[in-house]
Amino acid sequence: MRIIKVKDYQELSLTAARLIASQVLLKENSVIGLATGSTPEGMYKELVKMYENNLVNFEGVISFNLDEYVGLEENHKESYSYYMKDRLFSHVNINEDNIHIPNGNSSDIEEECKNYEKLIEEHGGIDMQILGIGRNGHIGFNEPDVKFEAVTHVVELDEQTRKDNSRFFDSIDEVPTKAISMGIKRIMQSKKIILMAYGIEKANAIFGMINGKIDPKLPASVLQLHPDVTVILEEGSASKLEFKVLV
Ligand code: F6R
Repeated sequence: MRIIKVKDYQELSLTAARLIASQVLLKENSVIGLATGSTPEGMYKELVKMYENNLVNFEGVISFNLDEYVGLEENHKESYSYYMKDRLFSHVNINEDNIHIPNGNSSDIEEECKNYEKLIEEHGGIDMQILGIGRNGHIGFNEPDVKFEAVTHVVELDEQTRKDNSRFFDSIDEVPTKAISMGIKRIMQSKKIILMAYGIEKANAIFGMINGKIDPKLPASVLQLHPDVTVILEEGSASKLEFKVLV
């Protein structure tokens, strides 16, 4: 794992955006796995700015989102489909046909998961996967006690995750109980992984992910087995780690 410690949210966002821009520069038809939530919002803002300044071109980019709630209308303000349009897709020149987000309203959710996997496979897998991390160590919506061998599947959201995400909804009762999520195996098959974390409330999960044992109770710990992971940590989220200066 390569760990980049940054001083604040602005630097976190810019660092992640630059890594995506460089991936797209090196391979214009890159398959990028995208995350939602509060953490990458600044990164999307930076990518939009870079696009406006002709520093990144999304024309050939193919995107696959990590997850989507089950049962929210596509244009519900908290659906990840709405989020992605609002934060990135409607501001850049990505081709609509190249955008993929699981359909949480499909009449056959199991079939939707299978098709999503097939599509990722047909595009040759993910070149660069962006991840946030939950307070409980989830990545995507792969909650504690995850099966590491899972591909895209339906998940029951953990109570902690529903509580955390209720800040976006009018009440916790409105937070869906299920989601479609890329599974750990699919995430681990990505050629490169960038995980971003912000805030002291992520410090325990980050400590466990880096220093703990590999354990399905802390899903992100599996990333210790991946050969190309870059972790970008703002100071709060890195506060439980010890950095030694070598002289
Ligand atoms: C979102 C996702 C989740 C979030 C995680 C952190 O697509 O897959 O794993 O990355 O819940 O969310 P925030 O960034 O809101 O703290």
